[in-house]
Amino acid sequence: SYTKPSNAPPCFPILLSILCRKYDFINKGPLELIQDGYKSLGDIFRIRLFHRSVVFLIGPQAHKIFFEAKDTQLSQREVYIFTIPVFGKNIVYDASPKIMQQQLKFMNKGLNLINMKAHVGKIVMEAEEWFNKWPQTGQIDLIKEFSELIILTASRCLLGKEIRENIHQEFAHLYQQLSDGMSHLSFFFPNAPTNAHKKRNLARIKISKIFEKIIKQRRINQEIQYDDFLQVLIDARYLDDSIPTDDEITGLLLAALFAGQHTSNITSTWMGLLLIKYKSKWMSKLLDEQKQIMNKYHGELSLESLFEMNLLHAVMKETLRLYPPLVFLMRKVLESISYNGYIISKGDIAVVSPSIAHRISDVFKNPDEFNPERFLGENAEDQIEKFSFIAFGGGRHSCLGERFAYLQVKTIWSILLRKFDFELCQEHPEPDYSTLVVGPKAPCMVKFKRKIDSF
Ligand code: HEM
Repeated sequence: SYTKPSNAPPCFPILLSILCRKYDFINKGPLELIQDGYKSLGDIFRIRLFHRSVVFLIGPQAHKIFFEAKDTQLSQREVYIFTIPVFGKNIVYDASPKIMQQQLKFMNKGLNLINMKAHVGKIVMEAEEWFNKWPQTGQIDLIKEFSELIILTASRCLLGKEIRENIHQEFAHLYQQLSDGMSHLSFFFPNAPTNAHKKRNLARIKISKIFEKIIKQRRINQEIQYDDFLQVLIDARYLDDSIPTDDEITGLLLAALFAGQHTSNITSTWMGLLLIKYKSKWMSKLLDEQKQIMNKYHGELSLESLFEMNLLHAVMKETLRLYPPLVFLMRKVLESISYNGYIISKGDIAVVSPSIAHRISDVFKNPDEFNPERFLGENAEDQIEKFSFIAFGGGRHSCLGERFAYLQVKTIWSILLRKFDFELCQEHPEPDYSTLVVGPKAPCMVKFKRKIDSF
C-alpha cells in the first residue's frame, strides 16, 4: 500500500479535477490541468500517476532546487531510458555517471568550444543555397521546409561532409525511422514489439555501419583536416586516455542530432508565424537592425554580425518563452530533497515545466503578449531572478546546443527577413501535443514573395 510522509507536497486530485472541469486536452495538452494545480496549491504540489508520485516545481525559486541538485539526488537517466535504443549502449543516459559526464564534455567541446566559426560559415552557406532556390513567389509549409534545411545544416556541421555530400538522402531516411521510433509509446515502453521500433532498431544498426566506415577512413587519412563535430568526437579521449568506440561516437552524434533537430525546426517555425502575425509592430524595427548591422559587416553574416542582432535574438527568445519545445523536464528522485518545508521523496518524479513557468505573470508582465523587448536592456524580465526563463533548462544539464541553436535560427530569419515578404495563409496554429517535442500543428502554410530591394 502507498503511504507518503506527512510533509509530502500537497496532492492535486487530477481525477476529481477532470470530473469537475472541462479540459481541452486536444488543444492544450495536460498544461491547463497542471496550471490549475499551481493556481490552487502553489509552487510545489504532486499528482498521482499510476503508481507514481509526480512532484511539480513551478517558478524561479522552486526551479532552483531542481536545477541545482546533484545527479546523485535528481537523475535524468531513469526518465530518458527511451533514448537508449536510439543513442545506444553505454552512451549518455545508459553510461555510468562518470562516463556520461565525460561524454557531455566531448559534446560541449564540439558544439561550443571548437569550430564555432566553422559551424556558422556552414549554416550560412546551407541556408543561403536553400533560400536561393525558392521561386519569386509561392506558398510553403514552414515546418516542412525548415525540417529539411535543418537536417542539411546538421549534416554538414555535425555529421561531416562525407554524409552531407555523398549519402544525405539515405541518411535522412534512416534518421526519419529513428525519429518515428521515439513516440509517447516509446517513452513508456521503449522496447514494445511494434513495427516502428523494429524499423528504428534496424536503422540504428545501418547508421552504425555507415559511421564505422567513415571513422575508419578518417583515422587512416590523418593528413586531411576536418572542422566538424564528428572529428571532435574522433579526437576525444576519456580521462583514462581510452578512445570512444565507433559505436559511442555514432551514439553521441545521434544524441546531438536528436537534441537539436526538432527543437530548432519548431522554434524557427513558431518564430516565423509570430513575426508574420505581428509584423505591423515588429517588422520595421527588425529590418532597421538588419540594415544597420549588415552595412557595418559589409553584407556578411558571421559569428560577429549575428551576435550583434539583439532584437532578432530577443524575438527568438520570446518565441521560446511562449512556445518552448520541451514542455516538461523531468528527473527521478534518488535522494529525498526538501523545499519550503515539504519533502520530495526518493522514488518520486520531479518535474519543471517551461510552458507553465513562462506564463507566470509575476515573472513576465502580460505573459500572453508577444513582446520581444521584455528581454532587452538592463531591466530584462528574465534577469531579475535566476531560472525564470528555462526553455534551455538550467544548471549542470542546461542545453549544450543553445549557442548553436541561436546561430542557426537567427541565420535563417536574418536571410528570410531581408529577402522576402510574407503573409499568413491560415489561423495561428495550436501546439501539437501528440509528439514528445511540442511544435505547431502542421501544416503551417505561408505565402512568400521575393523582395525587389532585398539586401
Ligand atoms: C539539453 C532545449 C537545441 C543539445 C537541453 C535541455 C533543454 C534543451 C530544455 C535540458 C533538458 C533537461 O534538463 O532535461 C533546447 C532547445 C533548443 C535546443 C529549446 C532549440 C531551440 C539544441 C541543439 C543541440 C542541443 C541544436 C545540439 C546540436 C543538447 C544537449 C543537451 C541538451 C547535448 C543535454 C545536456 C546535458 O544533459 O547536460 N536542450 N535545445 N540542443 N541539449 Fe538542447
